[in-house]
Amino acid sequence: MNILLLGKTGQVGFELNRTLSPLGTITAPGRAELDLTSEQVVAEYLQTHQPDLIVNAAAWTGVDAAEEHQQEAFRLNAGLPEQLAKFTAEQGAFLVHYSSDYVYPGDGDQPWQETSETGPLSVYGQTKLEGDQAIQQSGAEHFIFRTSWVYSARGNNFMKTMLRLAKSKTELTIVADQIGAPTPARLIAQITAMAINSNIPNGLYHLAPGGETSWHGFAQEIFRQAQQAGQELSVGPENAHPIPTSDYPTLAKRPLNSRMDLSKLEAALDIQLPDWQSQLALTLGEYLKNE
Ligand SMILES: NC(=O)c1ccc[n+]([C@@H]2O[C@H](COP(=O)([O-])OP(=O)(O)OC[C@H]3O[C@@H](n4cnc5c(N)ncnc54)[C@H](OP(=O)(O)O)[C@@H]3O)[C@@H](O)[C@H]2O)c1
Repeated sequence: MNILLLGKTGQVGFELNRTLSPLGTITAPGRAELDLTSEQVVAEYLQTHQPDLIVNAAAWTGVDAAEEHQQEAFRLNAGLPEQLAKFTAEQGAFLVHYSSDYVYPGDGDQPWQETSETGPLSVYGQTKLEGDQAIQQSGAEHFIFRTSWVYSARGNNFMKTMLRLAKSKTELTIVADQIGAPTPARLIAQITAMAINSNIPNGLYHLAPGGETSWHGFAQEIFRQAQQAGQELSVGPENAHPIPTSDYPTLAKRPLNSRMDLSKLEAALDIQLPDWQSQLALTLGEYLKNE
């Protein structure tokens, strides 16, 4: 199988490049080889390479920056997936794409279902939703995995920022009223490989670990596990203090409720998604080993 992987330098793309390798021959152009902002360049690349499977882990992921760079965010998060989906439908290929909990309106305290009404609060969320809808309307065979709070041993992410701050500060205040599930990029890649190799139905699936927490709860668990692993931190779980979102203003509005129901994916693949704490232990372990 001829696999085209986009976004290989990103958190999810890096893991996919390793995890998908037994499934076929991967072509993974970086930014220098393939400018994803250009529709024409992408069209020519697709015609030349004729992939059987496109795995799109490229995106505009700067949530606040998207408020001020709407056109660029729209191209990467909506225009590109639409273009990939059209090609996929025309060629009888298959498309795997990633979406976000930020497509949901964030109210209430119940987990969102794949069938729940969307209502993005930010430009980023709106562009991700338009990408999903374009794929769904294209007739292309596809999986869209909606995930949340992605982190990994590489790249810029909350886990690494917290560990850095916990060595330079003595107190931290962290948002405690946004609830969701932190998702390691490696889990996303593993489940993607399982899904490709299965015969589960096309469509939209939530993909995250089991359980729920706040950013504050996530930070406390990062500090607890890091200390347990022998890290010397000047901030531990006890001096990480909870604050409401209103005390941490950002350009883009974030949803308070990012809980996602995982039962559709679990039933389809006949798996139980592991809890977020055990997934943190694996990711933190990998990060500390290579630090
Ligand atoms: N991060 C999260 O918390 C989160 C949460 C929910 C859903 N998601 C979704 O999960 C997917 C993967 O996210 P991630 O965290 O792995 O993203 P990431 O680490 O920010 O990686 C984004 C990738 O896209 C590439 N890219 C961006 N603009 C490009 C351009 N103009 N031309 C070529 N390549 C370009 C980047 O290349 P460079 O390295 O060259 O910039 C990088 O490889 C995305 O669809 C995202 O929306 C992420």
